[in-house]
Amino acid sequence: MEKISQSVVKKDHAPKVSGRSIYVADYPPEGVLCGKLLHSKVARAKILGVEVPKLPEGYFYVDARDVPGDNNVNIVLDDTPVFCRDTVEYIGEPIAMICGPDEKEVIRLRDECKVAYEELEPVLDFYSADEKFFDYNFGHGDVDKAFAEADKTYEEEFETGYQEQAYLETQGMMAEPEEGGRMFVHGSSQCAYYIHGAVMRALGCGPTGVHIKQDVTGGGFGGKEAFPSILGCQVAVAARKCGKPVRCVFDRREDMEYTSKRHPSFCRYKAAVKDGRVTALDIDVKFNAGAYSTLSAVVLQRGIIASPGIYNIPNVRVHGSAVKTNTSPCGAYRGFGGPQTFFAVEMFMSHIARDLGREPLEFKRTHLVKQGDQTSTCGKYHFPVPIPDMIDEVVRESDFENKRREYAKAQTGRYRRGIGMSMYFHGAGFTGAGERDLIKAVARLRKYKDGRVEVLASNGDIGQGVRTTFPKIVANELNLPLDQVFYEHPDTARVPDSGPTVASRSLMIVGELLRRAAIKLREQWKDGEEQEVEEHYKEPDFVIPFYIDKFEGDAYPTYAWAVNAIELEIDTYTGVARVLGAYGSFDVGTPVDYNVVMGQMEGGFLQGIGYASIEKMDYDSKGRIRNNSLSDYLIPTTMDVPRLKCMLHVEKYPDGPYGAKGAGELPLVGAPAAYLEAVEQALGGMKLNHAPFTAEDTLSAITKEVN
Ligand code: MOS
Repeated sequence: MEKISQSVVKKDHAPKVSGRSIYVADYPPEGVLCGKLLHSKVARAKILGVEVPKLPEGYFYVDARDVPGDNNVNIVLDDTPVFCRDTVEYIGEPIAMICGPDEKEVIRLRDECKVAYEELEPVLDFYSADEKFFDYNFGHGDVDKAFAEADKTYEEEFETGYQEQAYLETQGMMAEPEEGGRMFVHGSSQCAYYIHGAVMRALGCGPTGVHIKQDVTGGGFGGKEAFPSILGCQVAVAARKCGKPVRCVFDRREDMEYTSKRHPSFCRYKAAVKDGRVTALDIDVKFNAGAYSTLSAVVLQRGIIASPGIYNIPNVRVHGSAVKTNTSPCGAYRGFGGPQTFFAVEMFMSHIARDLGREPLEFKRTHLVKQGDQTSTCGKYHFPVPIPDMIDEVVRESDFENKRREYAKAQTGRYRRGIGMSMYFHGAGFTGAGERDLIKAVARLRKYKDGRVEVLASNGDIGQGVRTTFPKIVANELNLPLDQVFYEHPDTARVPDSGPTVASRSLMIVGELLRRAAIKLREQWKDGEEQEVEEHYKEPDFVIPFYIDKFEGDAYPTYAWAVNAIELEIDTYTGVARVLGAYGSFDVGTPVDYNVVMGQMEGGFLQGIGYASIEKMDYDSKGRIRNNSLSDYLIPTTMDVPRLKCMLHVEKYPDGPYGAKGAGELPLVGAPAAYLEAVEQALGGMKLNHAPFTAEDTLSAITKEVN
């Protein structure tokens, strides 16, 4: 193993395992007001008025009228209000915040607020919803001609449900007015500068009127990409009105019902096949965005760019839309649109193969992209595609071929087995020209007189380990012991904008800036002096510029690759599936810390298995999410996968630090297709098309077969 890959003890290990870490809920309550949101109880209504109970001394009611700046939260578009306008658009939408010193009293006052609603007809049927926030078309080749000339054509629909991030720490933000009028906002978050932009706008102040700091964060998985901007604005507005610190921490129920989740999807795929090959794909992707647009544009872009899978299809037409329904706005979750479309394309390719009398694995192998091929957006796979070798690794490790043959024989007992496989990529880094045109990352190193070096960047450690891996890179280049280099939680008053902690970009993009900064510092190192060096992002020369209006060019400079196999056993009496083994080969380039990367791979893979099998969430006919606790929404535990085998395949990326590529999101993306393919085999070869596929789904599928 390379020196840089050798694992170290994570810098935040001791405070976290000993319980000494201070999360936002842990700051002492003295002098801090507790804020509780008054959430809409109906999915769509005009607000006629709110009858607020008499507030005791020191208690406050805060709503849109108290927003000193603009009541629109800066996300991608600005349709999300800080506090609702004259209508509410989903159950849970924040109408106001009650603030005061005693939490119980605040809750009582909040619950006594009487909201007069004039109810309007909500849009809840995702299939017929037609108000489009975003609508994209792209493609290449001549799809109509390929269909006209086809030997055979196929058409199928695929669906995926919500997925809740279920981070250990719920959403929480706190705002503290500082002397001189500056507002300090801190809390559980991924993107300090996103919050900075949003709070500036809500308070109507300049960049120095507010600063944002990340507190120790108990998981994000994308769920803390945009939501903290909204909550950050709310506590900042409240603190401005109350003239005191205000903290709002969600309880689990609020968090599960009202914060962003993975977009439910509905995809229609059509294929033309000639001479045993897929010659064209005609794809329609639809995401349920919820009531406001938040991050749906970017989630949809990533989803549709990945929608033809990792196959070389000469003619492709893709249409994608994100539609409005009167439900909680969806947002970022590990994989960011990719899990939905990779599920669809992997199942579709597998079904076509079976219909043609071919083994899915063999069929997929003959369609794989390789280095030099064109991407779905007419960019290029610039680097080797290691998928064939990774398939071999997974086949060997899981004994795939033998099991696949064995389980294909008629099974009649109570317990039936199946094994399935998926293959996919995750585009490394921000989609499209975002890195070059929007983020323009800057990272800095500050050397102190005593020789210690501080990393100055805006990427938050959300468990993925950047507080450790960033210093590791710097220490490696400077030949310093690791304890001489440190990285605090980012505070926008102290660190440059190195961009958000999203899109598996932190280590690959910012880590490389830090590596180059460290080399610069090494070359000009002067003992006993304070020194600072800075690096700016520059797009690599090989990149074919991406244009979002045409969806053309390199959507990503490179790709992380993966192959998954899942083997399971179904109890046909109960419908419960037991995963016997989950095998993954993951190429994230060079691991900058082996344990950190393996933790990511295992955790993400398990999260993907949950998404495929037991994580079911839906709303009822009124638009209310029913699965609002961890006993109604199940996630996998360590007991659920006895054999979780992750392997690293290293295809180095020359523009990432030591060859590292984006890692965080990749391991979740492919589990649903591998899982469902295994279920299909265990159930005797039926064709399934929706995830999650729960025990209830299994039972109803079996019952249908019998009747
Ligand atoms: Mo991430 S899912 O790009 O916050």
